Amino acid sequence: MRCAVFFCLLIGGWINYGSGVDPTNFKTCEQSSFCRRSRKVQSSGSKYSLISGTLNTYSDSVTADLLNKENHHQFTFKLEALVGGTFRLQIDEKTPLRPRYRVEHALKAQPKTVTIRVQESDGELTVTSGHSKAVIHGDPFRIDFYENDVHVVSVNAKNWLYFEHLRQKTQEQALPDSGEQQQNVEVLETLDEPGSWEENFKSHHDSKPYGPEAVALDFSFPAAEVLFGIPEHADSFALKSTSGTDPYRLYNLDVFEYIVDSKMALYGSVPVLYGHGPQRTAGVYWQNAAETWVDIYTAETNVVSSLVNFVSGSRKSTPPAAHFISESGIVDAFIMLGPQPMDVFQQYTALTGTHDLPQLFSLAYHQSRWNYNDERDVTTVSAKYDEFNMPMDTMWLDIEYTDGKRYFTWDKFKFPEPLTMIKNLTELGRHLVVIIDPHIKRDNSYFFHSDCTEKGYYVKTREGNDYEGWCWPGSASYPDFFNPVVRDYYASQYHLSKFKTVTEDVMIWNDMNEPSVFNGPEITAPKDLIHYGNWEHRDVHNLYGHMHLMGTFDGLQKRDPNQRPFILTRAHFAGSQRYAAIWTGDNLADWSHLQHSIKMCLTEAVAGFSFCGADVGGFFGNPDSELLERWYQTGAFLPFFRAHAHIDTKRREPWLFPERTRLIIRSALLKRYSYLPLWYTSFYELEQTGAPVIRPLLAHYPQDKEAFAIDSQLLVQQRLLVRPVMQQGVSKVDVYFPAIDDKKNGDYWYDVDTYQRQERTGSESIPVTEYKIPVWQRGGSIVPKKERLRRSSALMLNDPYTLVICLDRQGKADGTLYLDDEKSYAYRDGQYIYVNYEFANNQLTNRFIGKPKYKSDAWIERIVIAGLNRVPSSATITVNGVAQQLEVEQRDAAVYIRKPSIKMDVDFALKLNY
Ligand code: NOJ
Repeated sequence: MRCAVFFCLLIGGWINYGSGVDPTNFKTCEQSSFCRRSRKVQSSGSKYSLISGTLNTYSDSVTADLLNKENHHQFTFKLEALVGGTFRLQIDEKTPLRPRYRVEHALKAQPKTVTIRVQESDGELTVTSGHSKAVIHGDPFRIDFYENDVHVVSVNAKNWLYFEHLRQKTQEQALPDSGEQQQNVEVLETLDEPGSWEENFKSHHDSKPYGPEAVALDFSFPAAEVLFGIPEHADSFALKSTSGTDPYRLYNLDVFEYIVDSKMALYGSVPVLYGHGPQRTAGVYWQNAAETWVDIYTAETNVVSSLVNFVSGSRKSTPPAAHFISESGIVDAFIMLGPQPMDVFQQYTALTGTHDLPQLFSLAYHQSRWNYNDERDVTTVSAKYDEFNMPMDTMWLDIEYTDGKRYFTWDKFKFPEPLTMIKNLTELGRHLVVIIDPHIKRDNSYFFHSDCTEKGYYVKTREGNDYEGWCWPGSASYPDFFNPVVRDYYASQYHLSKFKTVTEDVMIWNDMNEPSVFNGPEITAPKDLIHYGNWEHRDVHNLYGHMHLMGTFDGLQKRDPNQRPFILTRAHFAGSQRYAAIWTGDNLADWSHLQHSIKMCLTEAVAGFSFCGADVGGFFGNPDSELLERWYQTGAFLPFFRAHAHIDTKRREPWLFPERTRLIIRSALLKRYSYLPLWYTSFYELEQTGAPVIRPLLAHYPQDKEAFAIDSQLLVQQRLLVRPVMQQGVSKVDVYFPAIDDKKNGDYWYDVDTYQRQERTGSESIPVTEYKIPVWQRGGSIVPKKERLRRSSALMLNDPYTLVICLDRQGKADGTLYLDDEKSYAYRDGQYIYVNYEFANNQLTNRFIGKPKYKSDAWIERIVIAGLNRVPSSATITVNGVAQQLEVEQRDAAVYIRKPSIKMDVDFALKLNY
């Protein structure tokens, strides 16, 4: 346990390996004074009203002043209408003692606004834009949002708006001059309770020079029955009530051996939350990068109102609600009005962006561990994959490859010739990923450290010194990536003229970027550190990793402008999906963590992070054969598919297990590779439309209440339904086949191994074998596959495709395929083929979306059709007016047409003959 011993020595033995996280290392809401104060409002309510006569109406927004009626402090209020059914609400102090932090770099661009219509009546202001409408009530302040006249979100319906204005550290201070209204008396607030002006946690002191500055607001979802979102937590997809527990916490932290079914913070913080009901879905993106807690109120029917409702015949209950509480910053909330789940997911990605189309190799299988010891180890592992005929695309090097944890250097004894090692991999079509962490070893002979010291690039203490913490290298400092000059410097380190010991094909893993500081409060940076622009770390904490990624992404793009970067990150914030894939961090080799890999990635996917995976096998501990097999089978259906393990675990490459295990893992790998065309197409469509690649059932079955909370199953687009086996020793699993309407009608689903059709909706017990990954293809879809075994995805570029057509009740199906060079940005210049295949009336045709410019040597070698009522006698393929007869063969429950030999860029029609 090298790291654990190191931790133990360092910070007083807080780690007890194998027993799970010690929660006392992390704050509770009660121990976080702003959370405690803001939560108190839940019992008393607060008093804000718009100040009459201050309303201004613009073409796309309204503004007014907002008054705290208790202390007479004034705020600015702005409501803007954005394209696509979204409103943006901003509340800030009118005349703050110093500016309050506004998040930058999370949105992909300045959102476009749209024209509004404003009507005033009975003290209410109605702001309309298209189907969306906001009704603003002045006193008490509240906004109700409607989509097509259905009430979907309320802001401050519970009256929990709470905004601590900045103040001098005296009890009777004068308010800053607020223009004509000179209400210079601080009335009710003294805010002298412990923790307001300074705060201690364990041995750490937070100086809080600016005092209390929390912001909090409640959002209710009247049309919803379930709330979900706000990753990252090791918890269920459907958010649980926080009544009687801590709120969900959003604060990027390095949590050692995290526990599942927990609301504790983890490595990433994405403050987007959705409310979903059978008719409507809406969402809120709370744009704040400070420590944030979110209380959840699940839908409840209270006894009195239900009696009233019973008598009045209406069904009304207290709608689900969320109470966001942040330590500093402003209220900057985006209210997304749906109306359907996919609409609202896309409204969110329209704001914060998507991952660009990744290089194909990054969607294939990755082999990692902490650590591959030396060049020989890397080469041997790669060769073993070939020996056992198993595909593998990428080898990973963890921190031990470096010279003493000095990033951008190599350990010269273990890795004397990295370029030769890299070339050996590249020649096999494989890649290498190396880790580059943000903590910089404080060693005067290390160029990066001396540069940062001389140029003043490190994050500073309050006193203006370079902050020093402890991390893998020992004493370390942290570049201030918020400074564009520092980001440029950091990005330039990736250039091959500087990082000479890699090639442009070596990609990057950014870890520990919460940032992790072993001797810091809660294993991270103190909140009173100072960043570029004089912002406190408190204001920007959850964005630190994001800024690190921006530097890395820029560095890789500049290193090779025509190659799409691949970066894996642990810390993330809203918008980080534009730069990197994520994984769920240091999980454990046990069944519950396997189950949480699906729950967590589903939540990440609806929060913009489709490119998500979990350490296959579990990071800590040693999986037995069965757990490892099931983990590979599950990982094969998550977008990011990487095996990884802690340095103290036993080696667990597949051939170290009995042959049966190796063969089961091999079969899971082959399955993954066979679906690469579908993954690749899905990621292209993610870039184009913002639609998540993996989806919860409710995304396409929004009316099926029983499906709302299901998080042991996922959809790959709307084409595959995956229900991995995630329990030990089972010979069957319960699978839920969702209904499309309230009459329990559903889609047909075809088992992808046998093409047996499932026609019923509801829960079914499905038998499984050790090899079986329960996956179904939706009737009505066409899925492109590649079925030839190669050692890596690069070698599959020109391999032929199989089209699997599964028919719906009307005998129809359709589905897209996207292809290009799988690596460069040429697709942005139109160098791609994007085609929609359609099957109807016993005929398959294709329709190109855009002109097919990319020249591909691939072709269609096989067409499989499931769900035909009768077996055709033959098929006729017509290309450019030339018809050819093809044989048809029936196998299992499907019909196979072999060698239609269709080039990818030609129009064709394939007719079944009877
Ligand atoms: C923490 C990461 O979560 C883990 O994956 C990695 O192996 C270690 N850091 C060492 O770099």
